[in-house]
Amino acid sequence: MRIALGVSGGVAAYKAAELVRRLQQEKLDVQVVMTRGAQEFITPLTFAALTGNKVITGLFGDKEASANVESAIEHIAVAQRIDLLVVAPATADVLAKLANGIADDFLTTLYLATKAPVIIAPAMNVNMWEHPATQKNIETLRARGVRVVQPDEGYLACGMVGPGRLAGIEAIASAVCETLGLRHDLEGLTVLVTAGPTVEDVDPVRVLTNRSSGKMGYALADAAARRGAHVILISGPTELRAPAEVDWLPVRSTEEMHRTVRERASGADVVIMAAAVADYRPASPEPKKIKRGTGKMMLELEPTADILAELGRNKGSKILVGFAAETEHLAENARHKLTAKGADIIVANDVTQEGAGFDTDTNIVVLFSRDGRETALPRMSKFDVANRILDQVAELRLAQLGKGVK
Ligand code: CTP
Repeated sequence: MRIALGVSGGVAAYKAAELVRRLQQEKLDVQVVMTRGAQEFITPLTFAALTGNKVITGLFGDKEASANVESAIEHIAVAQRIDLLVVAPATADVLAKLANGIADDFLTTLYLATKAPVIIAPAMNVNMWEHPATQKNIETLRARGVRVVQPDEGYLACGMVGPGRLAGIEAIASAVCETLGLRHDLEGLTVLVTAGPTVEDVDPVRVLTNRSSGKMGYALADAAARRGAHVILISGPTELRAPAEVDWLPVRSTEEMHRTVRERASGADVVIMAAAVADYRPASPEPKKIKRGTGKMMLELEPTADILAELGRNKGSKILVGFAAETEHLAENARHKLTAKGADIIVANDVTQEGAGFDTDTNIVVLFSRDGRETALPRMSKFDVANRILDQVAELRLAQLGKGVK
């Protein structure tokens, strides 16, 4: 996720560097936008070095900024790109501009141009903070849906004591996490996810495979890692890049996937089989290329191991999630797979539906749980679907803990 951090000109501007570090722990990509005042307190170079992104300092009216179209419309591009705008520290001047829609620099223009949620963390002298003008601006912003992280009380840089000190980094970070829906509810758990297709050789040039892109499994791995889990991603061949901080184990055939899952499943608390695993493979792959003949040709196939069902037979306290890709009788087939494979949850989707299934960025699924619950989700991004699945996993884990399962 990308966020913009607006830094305005107060003594607390230096604390924004610490905030950047803290937000990066949440795997957020931070774009810093500095007002002219902020640059009197801390240099853009500090933020550029910390974030790896170019820091935006341009003011409208700057000759340089208006000289090319790209920078002249950059505020629109940034506004569309971000998932959140947080302004910390926000000075009395910036609050007044935001409350009144004054857009005379990049930060204040970005505020007007973005549809992303906005958080402000004010910092100023106690009298400025308590002034009715500032309080009215705060009320205006709150009424507009802006989240305000209240300043702390204490010794202020000006020597006075009272409210006005920038809120603690943790308080600001937790407001950001809450607003973005980032949780750490899977911390301490190892989550094994399988993804993508498997590939079975027919001969040295031909294979049997399926249309799985791996997107659902990779979204699950990404979401679980963001929620604090240690993630092992066992993936058939895909074009996707493994999410950061995930233990990525590429495999090709069902046999390889089976072996790798067996090796790693014993250390996992949760196993999510999102891979589209082949049910059959050529009984005897040819070592040499099969030559063209004149008549029909038969390919003999043998069944592969059902990895999920095997895990289901030796489940222990593991939470098992399977998928069911169906083209008909969705509920009936999913309920059958739930018991036949010993899973806790089956995520079923009708792959013939538009916006669901192979190689799409969205999915439309129904979650069938062992306790009889059926949750039909509307069409949503695979990342959001992943989080809804993980919500149920986290619930099951809490229930286990309640029963004293370690
Ligand atoms: N699965 C597995 N090993 C296999 C086949 C499937 O672990 N050899 C897992 C999949 O990863 C998925 C679940 O089982 O989580 C259901 O897969 P699916 O292909 O929908 O069901 P099948 O059992 O293969 O039944 P069918 O193809 O007849 O629908």
